[in-house]
Amino acid sequence: MDEFSALSSEALQGLREELRKEYARFRERGLKLDLTRGKPSAEQLDFSNELLELPGAGEYRAADGTDCRNYGGLHGLAELREIFSPLLQVPAAQLLVGDNSSLSLMHDTVMHAMLFPLPGGSTRWVDVERPAFLCPVPGYDRHFSICEKFGIEMIPVEPTESGQLDIDEIERLAASDARIKGLWFVPKYSNPTGSTVSVRQAERLAAMTAAADDFRIFWDDAYSVHHLTDHHVIVAPIVELCEQAGQPDRVFVFGSTSKVTFAGAGVSFLGSSPANLQWYLGHIAKRTIGPDKVNQLRHARFLKDAEGVQKLMERHRDNLAPKFAKVQDILAEELGDTGIAGWTEAFGGYFVSLDVLDGTAAEVIRLAKEAGVALTPAGSTYPYGKDPRDRNIRLAPSFPPVADVDTAMRGVVLCVKLAAVQKLLEG
Ligand SMILES: Cc1ncc(COP(=O)(O)O)c(C=O)c1O
Repeated sequence: MDEFSALSSEALQGLREELRKEYARFRERGLKLDLTRGKPSAEQLDFSNELLELPGAGEYRAADGTDCRNYGGLHGLAELREIFSPLLQVPAAQLLVGDNSSLSLMHDTVMHAMLFPLPGGSTRWVDVERPAFLCPVPGYDRHFSICEKFGIEMIPVEPTESGQLDIDEIERLAASDARIKGLWFVPKYSNPTGSTVSVRQAERLAAMTAAADDFRIFWDDAYSVHHLTDHHVIVAPIVELCEQAGQPDRVFVFGSTSKVTFAGAGVSFLGSSPANLQWYLGHIAKRTIGPDKVNQLRHARFLKDAEGVQKLMERHRDNLAPKFAKVQDILAEELGDTGIAGWTEAFGGYFVSLDVLDGTAAEVIRLAKEAGVALTPAGSTYPYGKDPRDRNIRLAPSFPPVADVDTAMRGVVLCVKLAAVQKLLEG
């Protein structure tokens, strides 16, 4: 297929007629397919079913003799912290194990910082006029929802012309305004672009000057072991880098086993400096007497060590890679030389970020919905749900079977083409 922009208006009109017919046939199929959220499939959840039998009757003591059935142990089981310490690159003593959601750790960290000064900080964020966070875009909608809930202004940071993280702009903004208290950051196989931070960029984030004395990076390492190929990308150890840069309290690291074991019944992690960890522990001590240590114990028994985690992740990769390959194949085959779309191909993670012709993302999503293919709402990869160019769509192919990914993607590319032709004809 030729570049759409090179077509005459007669050719475009002919193409529109063809696409409309194709779309009507697709819609008549009455499909109900969903590419909205990065959920593991039931097959992936089955890989960890052994957890349902663990820790086993009479098996309730941790390595240090702790009775996991009882109260206490806010910091989390030492054996589980040891397993995840090399994977999250945080010393085990500086890692906390929480219950089933890292998002709740992020939420609570922001909430506590709103209400109580952070180490090194002199004010509560709630007392700051218009506190703000830097948000590299496109990004993760649930990060943005946390800011929205607490009235934290979000400052989008667009990628550079070449699609790289705009680290100069992040440095400039952080240094220029003491209202800027944080940075949302997914360092590896990010949601949605799959991008990974370079060593040099991580060093700059660790060392940069921030106008706020309590500026924090929310380093959401949600996809630390979620490879899709044999090329296992490694990121720089940010806790260590911050320490070396003389800013040990600069970062909070988050992670979880939501996409390792059970998305709804895993364990989560928070890693940081000793001072930040003490601050956090002090606050959660008032809301809980301790986490679910039985779940922590069965995770430690099931995963065994860091290698055990990597082995399990290979099974996930084998399951997910064909779905991601299908998405890439269909995008390349159908949109490859049309000049109306660009997309990412990542070494890991759960998403493909698709950029369609400017001003058509909402229309593509509407057309897809009418034809029975649910996509993440337009704008959701941007703060306040506002994509200024109305062009980004996040595709999440993990949950449906490969055959459904195939059908759904055929529908998506059809909608991308139809919306583009309509737009071009409108001038
Ligand atoms: C970047 C990112 N962080 C966090 C989460 C959610 O993590 P959890 O299940 O541990 O709450 C997701 C889920 O999609 C995610 O993409």
